[in-house]
Amino acid sequence: MTQPKKLYIKTYGCQMNVYDSERMAEALGGQGYVETSSAEDADMILLNTCHIREKAAEKVYSELGRYRDLKDAKPDLKIGVAGCVAQAEGAEIMRRQPLVDLVVGPQSYHRLPELEAQAGQGRRALDTDFPEEDKFVHLKARPKAKRGPTAFLTVQEGCDKFCAFCVVPYTRGAEVSRPADRVMTEARDLIERGVREITLLGQNVNAYDGHDRGLAGLIRDLARVDGLERIRFTTSHPNDMDEDLIAAHGDCAKLMPYLHLPVQAGSDRILKRMNRQHTAEQYLTLIGRLRAVRPDLHLSGDFIVGFPEETEADFQATLDLVEAVGYGSAYSFKYSPRPGTPAAERPQVAEAEKDERLQRLQALLTRQQRALQDAMVGREVSVLFEKPGRMPGQMVGKSDYLHAVHVTAEGLAPGDLRRVRVLESGPNSLKAALV
Ligand code: SAH
Ligand code: SF4
Ligand code: F3S
Repeated sequence: MTQPKKLYIKTYGCQMNVYDSERMAEALGGQGYVETSSAEDADMILLNTCHIREKAAEKVYSELGRYRDLKDAKPDLKIGVAGCVAQAEGAEIMRRQPLVDLVVGPQSYHRLPELEAQAGQGRRALDTDFPEEDKFVHLKARPKAKRGPTAFLTVQEGCDKFCAFCVVPYTRGAEVSRPADRVMTEARDLIERGVREITLLGQNVNAYDGHDRGLAGLIRDLARVDGLERIRFTTSHPNDMDEDLIAAHGDCAKLMPYLHLPVQAGSDRILKRMNRQHTAEQYLTLIGRLRAVRPDLHLSGDFIVGFPEETEADFQATLDLVEAVGYGSAYSFKYSPRPGTPAAERPQVAEAEKDERLQRLQALLTRQQRALQDAMVGREVSVLFEKPGRMPGQMVGKSDYLHAVHVTAEGLAPGDLRRVRVLESGPNSLKAALV
């Protein structure tokens, strides 16, 4: 029997890349590859990249530079770049880094085996087309191996929103939804293999239209499948939260009380310049409606500070909005000008100003996050256990609100869903006991 070839995949960026990396590993499994966790062992290295901010894109080139010695030692080593940098920069990657044999954009992963074979014949391979077909249909079916209790499932890709700062509409293409029956088949397969919690993914997941009743329809169908205990979805755009999806947060027990709903900024002037298509007031009203049906809902958000022309007063409006919402968690970034996006051409805020605003915003967000986490002490929550913790007899899982929870008890196993009482709140996690 021939030795299996080894594949090393390094994933950057969002959860959609995590999902894509799993599917690419499966597709290359059909070519005789097994995954390895070390680049040194690999016959093929695949970087699944992110283009969202300048730093993310530059990381790819510095990582590639590190593979020179590996390639010298093993001339057959294939090096591939997938993901959003592949889409944005295409053949430029091969010019800038001659080590690269293969460049494949996010919509062409079904062609990966073919491209791999081509790269194997000493020719360099490139595909950054946007085909009309569903790439996931062409990727080899998932093997029936058992897997952990949580899984991502991509149901929607692409974005038609064109926020003035963002590359995603260019790297991922137009909004496309996968048909509900295919999603249901994939979900049932995951559940058979031990998955208890599914997070539905999309760049604008709540714009999902592969079900005649939209994302809420899909969630309600999934909720009827025995064995699936929890449903989450991410990332949502405020303008795509329809009536039924709001209602589902109140009446669908398997839909978890945690919602990532980015707003980016609190000043209407900046929101308008960002092309977000909603005001701060509309966002707050939406949150009010969600909390009316699910009072304990934890909200998460994304924020950009130092967007072109953002004044101190604009930034203050962001702080005010954050105060008004009270986030359970949040991600905040300094604006990073991206080539080809409208905002990159506008008057920029000084770097020192961006740094200072980011610090103030993060201090506030951290305080809120900590306060909400501390408020869990004494409460009873459900935990889906995922893996053993560092201490003997300890298991780690996630609460309904996505807090990491540590419990020390006999006989707990990954996949167990148990009620616990929260005892203590640490810097990044909760300690609890079974009830
Ligand atoms: N589709 C999602 C998120 C896409 S990218 C949404 O609409 O919310 C994830 C986050 O990266 C964004 O929410 C935004 O906060 C941040 N981001 C995107 N482009 C950026 C840029 N040019 N500079 C800084 N942050 C950016
Ligand atoms: Fe980017 Fe805006 Fe689309 Fe989100 S909605 S992916 S931030 S363009
Ligand atoms: Fe990055 Fe592409 Fe995701 S740019 S955030 S990997 S969609």
